[in-house]
Amino acid sequence: MTARKKVIDLLASAPGQEVLAKGWVRTKRGNKEIAFIALNDGSTIHNIQVVVDKTAIDPALLAKITTGACIAVHGDLVESPGSGQAVEIKASEIEVYGECDPVRYPLQKKDTSFEYLRTVAHLRPRTNTFGAVLRLRSQMAFAIHEYFHSKGFVYLNTPLITAADAEGAGNMFQVATLDMNNIPRDKKGLPDYSKDFFGRRTSLTVSGQLEGELGATALGEIYTFGPTFRAENSNTPRHLAEFWMIEPEMAFYDIRDNMDLAEDFIKSLVKYALDNCLDDVKFLNDRYDPELLARLQGVVDTEFVRLGYTEGIEILKAAEADGHKFEESVSWGMDLQSEHERFLVEQHFNKPVILTDYPKDIKAFYMKQNDDGKTVRAMDVLFPKIGEIIGGSEREASYEKLQARIDELHMSHRTLEWYLDTRRFGTCPHSGFGLGFERLLLFITGMQNIRDVIPFPRTPKNAEF
Ligand code: 4AD
Ligand code: MG
Repeated sequence: MTARKKVIDLLASAPGQEVLAKGWVRTKRGNKEIAFIALNDGSTIHNIQVVVDKTAIDPALLAKITTGACIAVHGDLVESPGSGQAVEIKASEIEVYGECDPVRYPLQKKDTSFEYLRTVAHLRPRTNTFGAVLRLRSQMAFAIHEYFHSKGFVYLNTPLITAADAEGAGNMFQVATLDMNNIPRDKKGLPDYSKDFFGRRTSLTVSGQLEGELGATALGEIYTFGPTFRAENSNTPRHLAEFWMIEPEMAFYDIRDNMDLAEDFIKSLVKYALDNCLDDVKFLNDRYDPELLARLQGVVDTEFVRLGYTEGIEILKAAEADGHKFEESVSWGMDLQSEHERFLVEQHFNKPVILTDYPKDIKAFYMKQNDDGKTVRAMDVLFPKIGEIIGGSEREASYEKLQARIDELHMSHRTLEWYLDTRRFGTCPHSGFGLGFERLLLFITGMQNIRDVIPFPRTPKNAEF
């Protein structure tokens, strides 16, 4: 019995051996005597070519081998006379595991637009493009764990169900088991959450940061890597309602250390993709985005610009004065839109920018307050084609200042008492940031829409599959 070999290993094997391959048929072509089958099993972007002698195979069996069918092939691995590949399989026996009706199969050559493929997200992993994207996604997840592991960070799992709104933006999905048709009410007529599963109002988390800070102020350096949920009605190519975030949090790091880590982290990840996933990146480069490889290498080789928000606004205003039109006109205090971020990165500096010291009113309550009373020690990393890829800050370490800010924003103390204990007991300077995993993948794959770098996207009005 020959053991099955994956296509990626077959392609790297020496000819002159008996092999067994299993996978899905990408294409079948040929002439009267010979059929050529391109077989793929998801292990690599490349197919293995299977050569079938038509005179030696039952025509009924051959007819079942159509695009999308799943087959097992026994045969000899031989040197390929064709130009596309070094080796191919000369089939001696083929078993059809699963036929695939060529008329009803939803993946047809004629309709491969990304919009269409989103409607068949259950099958799109079988396309070359999604195979490449999903392999890259997996590789990058591994690279992230490896990066932090090598630096001695502790991987901390933070809860997905929470009673606290970490970002204070109020865009959380509620988690409840109350009977929607018969909601218990309190004296004021409001839903009585004391009767709910957790005995209080709970939601899906928008960020693991607050619990991450508990970890960092005990273990020193931690990171989280998990799904986060935001019920913001942003139907853009850069927003998901369910996305994955990596949040490192470090005791004794100030904003500068935080920026250094963010820059090194993201460069290491891009370099990892170039060093370890070149086949898939190259495929995406050649198929869709001929500048992808150069853009990736550019980020690895470039020092990021570090710039204050206020200076950033000055640059944008100067551009406006010069005749550049933004959809939203520029003024100090505004939350920068993707058009502003991309102007700085793509047109003005032509490299990634770390923007710091944002107005406190557009940032979360936990950020360290600057002496000017107006700004906080925030940092956003802005990337070409993406805009914001990382958001972070040095944290407010002073109990009094943090409490004052919580009051100023009329936030509930009750759900944050445990968080405030980090400042009550042995507080320390600390910092952290969050990298949006899908935004990173947008950059690394060159894909245009965030719905196409996660297997099953969740967006407003869309939770199929
Ligand atoms: O800037 P954000 O909101 O920061 C936080 O959540 C902090 N708690 C992070 C921290 O300091 N530990 O989100 C961080 C990143 C953004 O820069 C972006 O890359 C991504 O998360 N992100 C989204 N990605 C996809 N869809 C969305 N709706 C996203 N919202 C944020
Ligand atoms: Mg942000």
